Amino acid sequence: MAELDYLERIKKKYGWESFPFSLDLIPEVFAGKEKILNPIMQQLAFGSVVYIEGGYGSGKSQVLKHMNYKLNKDPAYASRYIPVYIPEPLTREVLLSAFSRFDFKRRIERIGDLVEALDGELGGKKHVVLLVDEAQELAVHENDTPDIVSEKGTTLQWIRALADSRGCKIFLTGLINFGKKLNEMFRPLEDRVTLKFTLERMDVRTTKELIMERIKHFTPESQKPISPFTQEAIEMINVVSGGYPRAILRTCQEAVIDMLTNNRESIDGDRIIRLSGRTREVVMSPSTESAIREGKRDLEREMKAIKDQLAYDKDALNTTELEVLRFLATREEVTPQGAADGCGITQGTAGNILRKLKEMGFVFRKPHGRTHSYTMYSIYRREFTQA
Ligand SMILES: Nc1ncnc2c1ncn2[C@@H]1O[C@H](COP(=O)(O)OP(=O)(O)OP(=O)(O)O)[C@@H](O)[C@H]1O
Ligand SMILES: [Mg+2]
Repeated sequence: MAELDYLERIKKKYGWESFPFSLDLIPEVFAGKEKILNPIMQQLAFGSVVYIEGGYGSGKSQVLKHMNYKLNKDPAYASRYIPVYIPEPLTREVLLSAFSRFDFKRRIERIGDLVEALDGELGGKKHVVLLVDEAQELAVHENDTPDIVSEKGTTLQWIRALADSRGCKIFLTGLINFGKKLNEMFRPLEDRVTLKFTLERMDVRTTKELIMERIKHFTPESQKPISPFTQEAIEMINVVSGGYPRAILRTCQEAVIDMLTNNRESIDGDRIIRLSGRTREVVMSPSTESAIREGKRDLEREMKAIKDQLAYDKDALNTTELEVLRFLATREEVTPQGAADGCGITQGTAGNILRKLKEMGFVFRKPHGRTHSYTMYSIYRREFTQA
């Protein structure tokens, strides 16, 4: 009932036909066409093997899903390319079954058979575009048996042979460094890599684009898309999510639900900051109900992603600065006077330290009377309450 009620309300108020910020992959929606998509798509013309690397939730699968969608649906591409999308870890068997749509007349046992059959089938007119997700699984892992290692090696040889075939382009996505590992396993592949692309954290503009594109997707064409987020809220979403698309969507999700629950009209930056504590708490503590709901595997990934964001140079901090950080970690907001009293230092020193911590990205600042107050971003709180 409650869920229906929400849907009714967002439809009435914003014209959204469904909830725009689900964590599902929506192939049609893509933010970052210029910076992300274009350089990758260009490789269709020139490339051979393309590596796309990124952290958890950085949009690796989205790139492939969107390419698959575009190559199938856009007539300009569909006349020239045949996408073959492989979401699961690649093995020879998976590869063969992915190609089974071509219904080859001959039996394919060796890679040579496949390349020949493909060339015959395509007649030099079309290219197959192999879209392989989770390519880090192709690398050798610690617990792999000799059989698995040898199977992986053979699969890489197959990829190499396909890359050499005129009719085939290969796009592989995987976690950071998978490319290096594959190159080490099988040198000949490295020579054929024409682009190595890293999915960086999104900037504020792309974050906004992601939010607006999602909203647009769920708004009927006859209506103007309506966003409840202020510009400041979008900037804060970018900060608290670290610019990772999955975290951006999750933050938006929380914020919209919060807005509806509390009958607010819009979402501002302050609200995002307040909510970020809650969101992160859910993510950080495996025992909470929602963590169980989300599944342990997702949670572990998410925690790792957050840990990556926590990387900073601890050596750059002296003991007094660390003490101020610990003080901040347990308080909502702190003024220079408050930090001075709490840590037994002068107000001047406290002011200097707080400014430095702001520059390092640990805290944000708000006007507070004639001075400022400082609040620690919640992603850092746990780190400094444990110490
Ligand atoms: N450029 C983008 N434009 C629109 N939506 C995106 C973009 N990148 C990611 N997303 C969305 O963000 C979410 C996470 O992206 P995705 O699943 O592609 O990440 P991933 O890197 O494959 O994560 P994992 O490491 O868990 O496999 C998805 O809902 C996806 O639709
Ligand atoms: Mg993925």
